[in-house]
Amino acid sequence: MCGVVGYVGYRKAAPILINGLKRLEYRGYDSAGLVALDKDNQPRRYRGVGRVKNLEKQIQGEDLVATCGISHTRWATHGKPTEGNAHPHADISNKFFVVHNGIIENHAKLRAQLEADGVTFSSETDTEVIVQLVGRNFKGSLEGAVEEVLKVIEGTFGIAVVSSEDPGKIVAARRGSPVVLGIGRDEMFIASDVGALVPYTDQVVYLEDNDLAVMTATDYQVLSFDHVPIKRKTSMIDWTVEEGERGDYPHFMLKEIYEQAETVRNAMRGRVQLSEGVAVLGGLQSKIHQIQHLKKLIIVSCGTSYHAGMIGRHIFENLTEISVEVELASEFRYRRLRLDETVGVIAISQSGETIDTLAAIREARRKGALTIGLVNVVGSTIARETECGVYCHAGPEIGVASTKIFVSQLVILNLMALLIGRYQSVSLSEGINIIKCLQELPDQISGILKNAPRLEELARKYEKFPNCLFIGRQIHHPVALEGALKLKEISYIHAEGYAAGEMKHGPISLIDENFPTLALVSGDASYEKMISNIQEIKARSGPVIIVTSKRTAEMDEFADDVFEVPSTHELLQPILSVVPLQLYSYYCARFRGCEIDKPRNLAKSVTVE
Ligand code: F6R
Repeated sequence: MCGVVGYVGYRKAAPILINGLKRLEYRGYDSAGLVALDKDNQPRRYRGVGRVKNLEKQIQGEDLVATCGISHTRWATHGKPTEGNAHPHADISNKFFVVHNGIIENHAKLRAQLEADGVTFSSETDTEVIVQLVGRNFKGSLEGAVEEVLKVIEGTFGIAVVSSEDPGKIVAARRGSPVVLGIGRDEMFIASDVGALVPYTDQVVYLEDNDLAVMTATDYQVLSFDHVPIKRKTSMIDWTVEEGERGDYPHFMLKEIYEQAETVRNAMRGRVQLSEGVAVLGGLQSKIHQIQHLKKLIIVSCGTSYHAGMIGRHIFENLTEISVEVELASEFRYRRLRLDETVGVIAISQSGETIDTLAAIREARRKGALTIGLVNVVGSTIARETECGVYCHAGPEIGVASTKIFVSQLVILNLMALLIGRYQSVSLSEGINIIKCLQELPDQISGILKNAPRLEELARKYEKFPNCLFIGRQIHHPVALEGALKLKEISYIHAEGYAAGEMKHGPISLIDENFPTLALVSGDASYEKMISNIQEIKARSGPVIIVTSKRTAEMDEFADDVFEVPSTHELLQPILSVVPLQLYSYYCARFRGCEIDKPRNLAKSVTVE
């Protein structure tokens, strides 16, 4: 979603703003803009549709010496992506400027009131009401004016405001959309995502909902919306600049796919005790007694994280005595739920900022359930608002399509279930076996990656088809869903994931010689049924690619192509089976000339409903 970057200090603001926006490009956006307040406090505003590099071109050759400014990448919600709708927005006096991430729900009413008072709007956005109101409420102090506006706006926001009337100052506020302050020496930063701040400082302060911050070059203060000072702790960023760089890889997505052996190692590091067959998860320790006695677990998440949750259900069902449900976070929050302290709600989120997942855990907490986070971004809102949890420690994931964090989520779900299961009926030998299999995964992943040229070949053969079906059973059903999601989001090939048993209930009518199916076949009890499904597809001339850990002569007979992955414990098999699907999608997208790291219309961190 939208990205926000602000700077006040002693250096030229514009290059820092541009660099910060570039580091947020992965979040997805359609236009970009910045405003810098010059020494004479003349605002210099630049905006444009498309990439940050277009904005950079606009300011090339401009003498921008300003040391204070705010900037934004916009992901359109109200009004088309046009220059006029791009942020920063200005009030009618052109002295007040705002950038905003979120949605102002009562903007229509506020706009009508302002228009009735003679204000002419210059954009179609919900955001513009904020800045028009700031201008009207200004009585000498920018924070005072912003505080007045916060009393009347409804919805979600992470905002940064500057004004030539109160120079050398940025006022920021948060409700629902992330805002992080970067603390430097004689300079301060603000961003919607720590990724923008990594090159400049490792000291950050995460704003909580209903916090307002006032920043000057040498100081910052956090206040409530009623102007009561609040102490917020300073955290350290645990990313390095290099982790956010692409290196020699043509795309971040490919780099992240290739990092997965290391991702698995990082997810397990210091978290298993082989001799005891147990997992050691410090982040769950304070609640372990309650967790052991939970009657029900509900996993809430969205998109790829939801698919991890679906696999998590199989894992918890097999290793623990707790009954498990998985729910899309966007649906969970509207259900009439019976929750209490015997229910644990696990929120899975790579960004830790997905608004629906956040709302779900807030709802769960309100009703007395224990909330548990499984999050990658340290210090993110979901990480802070859950009562206990585990970090993925997968490093930054820049490609919009999630790959390495999905794999990391699966490893940690296994560790969580093992931790609980060893207090219940999982035996020592079973615990040891799972850990041994986990430890083999990195080498097995590296082995699959060595076969990437074969997946490139398959992608070359099948990318011309406009549709693709992914099928699997049991624990491989969510892998099929994930394969379909990867393919559609980056290559724009229409892809659907199905539980193979559903084929006869509808989707088989689609099958003909132009509709390929990718089937995930394991050697478990579902093998015969999968082979029957494949034969049914072949009987209708549908091309079939099989991804399997147990290659058989039948597969070679019925399928057009077979790709083998190493075999592991059945609860870990998805970690291996998903890797070829990621690579297959990547190559299809590449052959189709798609913008892989920034697919159209998508955002990395979905902070609006
Ligand atoms: C797809 C993808 C998304 C996210 C979803 C939830 O590749 O990455 O489907 O999984 O938007 O995001 P998080 O995990 O940040 O809550």
